[in-house]
Amino acid sequence: MSDLNETTITEAVLASLRNSKTPRARQIGEALVRHLHAFIREVRPSEAEWEAGIRFLTDTGQKCDDKRQEYILLSDTLGVSTLVDSINHPSQPRVTETTVFGPFYVPPPEFSNGDDIRGNLEGTPLYICGTVRSPSGAPIADAVVDVWHSDEAGFYDVQQLDKTGGLAARGRFRTGPDGSFQLWTVKPSPYPIPTDGPVGDMLRAQGRHPYRPEHVHFMIQAPGYQKLVTHVFASGDQYLGSDAVFGVKSSLIREFVLHRDDTAPDGRTLPGEWFELRYDFGLQPA
Ligand code: BEZ
Ligand code: FE
Repeated sequence: MSDLNETTITEAVLASLRNSKTPRARQIGEALVRHLHAFIREVRPSEAEWEAGIRFLTDTGQKCDDKRQEYILLSDTLGVSTLVDSINHPSQPRVTETTVFGPFYVPPPEFSNGDDIRGNLEGTPLYICGTVRSPSGAPIADAVVDVWHSDEAGFYDVQQLDKTGGLAARGRFRTGPDGSFQLWTVKPSPYPIPTDGPVGDMLRAQGRHPYRPEHVHFMIQAPGYQKLVTHVFASGDQYLGSDAVFGVKSSLIREFVLHRDDTAPDGRTLPGEWFELRYDFGLQPA
């Protein structure tokens, strides 16, 4: 193993992995070396470009703390999160499709069905309701439904705690005996992912916008079923075809139905505009 050059270096590094502790560690290590070397052979970076690449990865790590995970944002914006999600959750009949988790989940406060989770956020009322079922259509009672979303200006509570004074537009509900849940909140909006770090620099260099289409996040858990992490997207949104993190699936798009001076499903009559979103979720048996 000496006098290594462009032709011989890859085999030499691969050979050095033969005593890996497990077959899986060897497989992963070999694939990493093969693909990384192929990338370098294709790109043929100058030394200045190589240093810029190292600086980008260093800056990405240094942007991470307990509230900000720039590496996940990088994975999201390069489509890696969606690829990993697709490999682990292939589509199944009558099971709701999954999508990216995103960085804005925190364990939500518990609410009862029918409650309003808006906290002190202003906005147009949104009624969200739905059911949780098995693939055979049987209602799943007592499923834990976590909901979170941005406000009408496109910010999550955790990005503006000085304004919200605490958690808002997020809550935990439990389905009733018929598998149903329902809540009030305020309508979200499309929003840009954080662009004040290396991922923002990357998007600008690539001529990409940072927006995600309007959506509501759901995480649903019930004993005997796989955890479902997904969103429901608003139909008609201008960013459905160009989500910055590649999370949109057509099965997850629904109309946020506009009502005016109308009586809601829970019997309340609201003055002015409000919206209604219904989604029936299917869980995959564990
Ligand atoms: C979100 O929807 O909350 C999100 C997902 C991925 C990256 C940034 C934000
Ligand atoms: Fe989101």
